[in-house]
Amino acid sequence: MTRSSRIPGFYKLSLEERRTKLAEDLGIELATLVAPTLDEETANHMVENVVGVYGLPLGIALNFQVNGTDYLVPMCVEEPSVIAAASNAAKMIREGGGFQAEADDPIMISQVQLDAVHDTLAATQAIDAHAAEIIRMADAAYPSLVARGGGCRGIEVRTLRRSTKNEPGMLAVHLYVDVRDAMGANLVNTIAEAVAPRLGELADADVGLRILSNLADRRCVRVTCRVPAKCLATDGHSGDEVRDGIVAASRFAELDPYRAATHNKGIMNGVDAVVIATGNDWRGVEAGAHAYAADKGENGGYGPLATWRVADDGSGDLVGRIELPMAVGTVGGTLRVHPGARLALKILGVERASELGIIMACAGMASNMAALRALASEGIQKGHMSLHARSLALHVGATGELVDRVAEEMSRLGDVRAEVAQQILERLRGANGRGHKHSVGGAS
Ligand code: MEV
Repeated sequence: MTRSSRIPGFYKLSLEERRTKLAEDLGIELATLVAPTLDEETANHMVENVVGVYGLPLGIALNFQVNGTDYLVPMCVEEPSVIAAASNAAKMIREGGGFQAEADDPIMISQVQLDAVHDTLAATQAIDAHAAEIIRMADAAYPSLVARGGGCRGIEVRTLRRSTKNEPGMLAVHLYVDVRDAMGANLVNTIAEAVAPRLGELADADVGLRILSNLADRRCVRVTCRVPAKCLATDGHSGDEVRDGIVAASRFAELDPYRAATHNKGIMNGVDAVVIATGNDWRGVEAGAHAYAADKGENGGYGPLATWRVADDGSGDLVGRIELPMAVGTVGGTLRVHPGARLALKILGVERASELGIIMACAGMASNMAALRALASEGIQKGHMSLHARSLALHVGATGELVDRVAEEMSRLGDVRAEVAQQILERLRGANGRGHKHSVGGAS
């Protein structure tokens, strides 16, 4: 089914109306959309000592167009403004032709640590000479992966510490495994354990750890986008000014790891929300992203995963680029048991893990652009305060249209506090119920 990710006024609909719209547009049963959470019984079998199920909001980011295809992007996140900001930025990027993206083959790295190696050079040569045998052993450990078109693609021996007269050496043997549409942790861990004894024998070494590396730098996604400067304008700031501010913000992150950490946090706001919605391992993706960023700074240290420049073709457009490892799957793991994760994939309409990784990187890029645009113009707090006002309104018990009315009144007063929200709510309820008003914080 071709879907459009443009749904003007979606945010104005009630929750039920949004679900109905989505169910109609995507041909998904409404009942599936109503109950995307885990039941306790399943949860009880997933982890240990279960006492309940913990929920998070699931929202849909709109306007995403990637390589010419529209995607509705499910996001699970507790932080206000992430979904709205990503949708907004995706709309601007759409004006410039959408996201252009590509993904590496889904190659995960399986590591076998070899310790107490007396002759690192001889050990490396012995393993290299038996590479074909090791690759066969790795494939034999997971025939179903080979049947699906995956399997071990290569082997590399890395010397971590050379053996000397005084100290034995340490090697890390990498097996590069195409895991197809799985995240692949279990696959590559099994493979590492299967080949490790033979590696130990060949290297005349002690076998140490046998586990994947979360620095999945052979499984990267690269995305570029362009935004016409006029689309970036905000109240009081021209498009050119905001574009230049975004570029200056990018330069700040490229030069300073302290800023790069926050810049990347803004990227991960978008990435993680999709990773969580689709039941993937967000700790793994986080570990990979930050390890990948460790040498991306201009001075060789930690740097930004996404960078922004003015296009060099004289158009004055803003152009962005992001690159990061994306170890995620569309089969196995949590997806087997979590109805919300399955629903999220249905909403996205993706089957391939590489396509899913691409969408996640696009969500990260949109989140980053939205944050930098706000920071480079009016600052982040104005938007945050109005969302904070909404959450305070909810906190003091406002429901339905009263949520927006309480929040708007607090924003108008410039006084966003729980007591104020409470007073406004009481006044509005009084006005609705008894036609009776009193003033709050000097306002009437
Ligand atoms: C807040 O969740 C994310 C930002 O701090 C990101 C950034 O500073 O770029 C706004």
